[in-house]
Amino acid sequence: MASTLPEIFESMEYGPAPESDKPALAWLEAHGASFGHHVNGAWTKAANGAQFDVINPATGKVLARVAQGSKQDVDAAVRAARTALPSWQALSGHARARHLYALARAVQRNSRLFAVLESLDNGKSIRETRDIDIPLVARHFYHHAGWAQLLETEFPGYHGAGVAGQIIPWNFPLLMFAWKVAPALAAGCTVVIKPAEFTPLTALAFAEIAREAGIPPGVLNVLTGDGATGAALVDHPDVDKLAFTGSTDVGRLIRKATAGSGKKLSLELGGKSPFIVFEDADLDSVVEGVVDAIWFNQGQVCCAGSRLLMQEGVADRLIEKLRVRMEKLRVGSPLDKAVDMGAIVAPVQLERIRSLVEQGTKEGADMWQPSWAVPKEGCFYPPTLFTNVAPSSTIAQVEIFGPVLVSMTFRTPEEAVALANNTPFGLASSIWSENINLALDVAPKIKAGVVWINCTNLFDAASGFGGYRESGYGREGGREGMWEYLKADWMEGRRSAGRLRATGEGGETEEVRRRTGAKAGKTSGAPAIDRTPKLFIGGKQARPDGGYSLRIVGADGSPIGEVGEGNRKDIRNAVEAARAAAGSWARTSGHARGQILYYIGENLSARAAEFATRLCEMTGRDGSLEVAATIARLFTYAAWADKWDGSVHQTPIRGVTIAMNEPVGVLGIATPVDFPLLSFVSTAAPAIATGNAVVAIPSEVHPLVITDLYQVLETSDLPGGVVNIVTGRRDDLARVLAEHDDVDGLWYFGGAGGVKMCEAASVGNMKQTWAEGFERDWMSAEQGEGREFLRRASQVKNIWIPYGE
Ligand code: NAI
Repeated sequence: MASTLPEIFESMEYGPAPESDKPALAWLEAHGASFGHHVNGAWTKAANGAQFDVINPATGKVLARVAQGSKQDVDAAVRAARTALPSWQALSGHARARHLYALARAVQRNSRLFAVLESLDNGKSIRETRDIDIPLVARHFYHHAGWAQLLETEFPGYHGAGVAGQIIPWNFPLLMFAWKVAPALAAGCTVVIKPAEFTPLTALAFAEIAREAGIPPGVLNVLTGDGATGAALVDHPDVDKLAFTGSTDVGRLIRKATAGSGKKLSLELGGKSPFIVFEDADLDSVVEGVVDAIWFNQGQVCCAGSRLLMQEGVADRLIEKLRVRMEKLRVGSPLDKAVDMGAIVAPVQLERIRSLVEQGTKEGADMWQPSWAVPKEGCFYPPTLFTNVAPSSTIAQVEIFGPVLVSMTFRTPEEAVALANNTPFGLASSIWSENINLALDVAPKIKAGVVWINCTNLFDAASGFGGYRESGYGREGGREGMWEYLKADWMEGRRSAGRLRATGEGGETEEVRRRTGAKAGKTSGAPAIDRTPKLFIGGKQARPDGGYSLRIVGADGSPIGEVGEGNRKDIRNAVEAARAAAGSWARTSGHARGQILYYIGENLSARAAEFATRLCEMTGRDGSLEVAATIARLFTYAAWADKWDGSVHQTPIRGVTIAMNEPVGVLGIATPVDFPLLSFVSTAAPAIATGNAVVAIPSEVHPLVITDLYQVLETSDLPGGVVNIVTGRRDDLARVLAEHDDVDGLWYFGGAGGVKMCEAASVGNMKQTWAEGFERDWMSAEQGEGREFLRRASQVKNIWIPYGE
């Protein structure tokens, strides 16, 4: 190594620039390098005394031992959180804001300790923990101190959802902790959080500092342990809300485990995000972008730009430039201030990366790594680039979670979009072009929760983060993220719907059996049934595939008609029709969608008396009120159609971050029994107002008023396929929708059994579900309409657009 000044100038080699590990080691030492949980404002030992080692991945040395949480430990932590909840919720928003503000200040005061401890524990470079992770943690608490302050005025009618159980991964230990804890505390929830087993130390340090900063006992409980501890937290009956970040596989397990439990759930899962380079992009910026996209945090980033998609004309030049840059990247001790990449989190992760890279080579792709070698001791892996990659190969599809970039080429923007969306994930994407028209044309077409234009991996507390498709649901950050921890006040007094309990696989309801059975055998002399029962698919009335129909009885128990009994094939046809219509309906202007909703209202109004009579015949109630409320509701969503605005977030970049409300896509809706017309419209109208295509199952007990509606829909300029209606046995049909991989979201309003079934069956494509097993008052504006429905019908895409020459 060069030692004299002239030699240094000659070689331009880096000297060592180590950050001192002393303060962090002193903190560990002060605790005897042995930790329990931090519950109810104090250190507590694991009930069974079990502990495990926490290892520095850069050296292989043990840093500390921490408690392995058991079910009893989870019970104790949840109990502490439950006990603390009423007084935490009773605090004014301003008082909670002061607490969050104090936490933000405490993070800043202890920033060096946190940065070094994080680097030791995770292996990430001190440059990143110091300049990215920890400042973002402080920013998150400041931002959410603001939401606490504004809660009462900005979220009227809502309060904290209760006890929040939170499970986080190892890649950004303290940052993920902040993303979970800050909004929960701001909303008035109390927290039990479980850090990842590889990286629990900064969470424990935070718990201690939070106690010193005056957070009341029981409000923030940190429980360490592995997946089994996480599973016990998921299963705990006294948790109201679960938030998870981690692998899609575990996300699936959690969705299944919580099905039917009534727990609110948000999931931030894996990704395989595209990094799209058009040929007019500034290639030197692109190269630096790629470095930040895939070599940031050793590529252990859920939104890493791990698929480089290059327009053919620039591919060779870009690959060449990348190789030159890769030669200059530095991998080494995470505490060296001049390294680009630190260590991989653990041997098991290193092994996973190695075996996937091997698989890539076996499948025929060309692998390239720089000429220099990574340190032999510790978990290090060099930056790696694959070319000649087939889009269907393992390395192009699977999340590697390491510093491995796979590259592919495309010719046209259409091909780029197709290639970008050729993944079950949908977390993030990055688009590089000097042509803003092109970039903004492509951005909405990418199925991902975040789009970065000419930038990558930018995060801020003001901007929601989260995925589409198998990358999960829910958002973290900003106003969007606050909803995950809030609950409507009126829900406190909710009653169970009960009435639609599914009885086994058939899903036949007690009420249906009671009603149809009541007059069984006495119908031979009933008046002739005047209509051929049909479904409504692709804008046309269609006979049910099975050729069966269901008899429908009126309020007095006598038959009043029949409807088609839809089956699996009918649902598939309906989903196909919805998918075909979804794209152009989403692109239809809000004004035009509103016009169609007004028109439906107008046509319904022209036949109001007829519909009122039908409702009365079916339900025995005066139907005119329901018809009037339905027409008003159609007007409500016609009004909303051009007003469901996104926003521009105040992120600290020179540019704009646009939060766009996008439709979920194809939405399945199983509508409630009661208020059959109103509840149908109350759910389908917000869905179509926001640009979704719908497959709806009308009230199983009172479907005739909806089959009457076919004619109204046919004469209201609604494009075929935007609303599809399949009558039949609700829970059987809902199950088909839940299991269907081309349905993007499912709403279900019915009994507890159906809720559980829908949530559990949704895991195939991790579709978002909104399943309720209690009664809503559909006549009331508070419960039956408004922003809650619009929010559920949309997903937010945040598009970051820096500007300036
Ligand atoms: P993981 O999903 O198993 O772990 C994440 C967290 O979930 C940890 O706190 C873990 O203890 C907990 N957990 C594990 N099993 C659980 C269960 N059954 N119930 C409740 N909690 C449970 O991820 P892991 O094994 O650490 O990494 C494996 C792969 O997952 C990575 O290679 C990467 O591909 C992906 N991953 C993705 C992350 C993301 O941010 N999207 C983060 C971490 C991992």
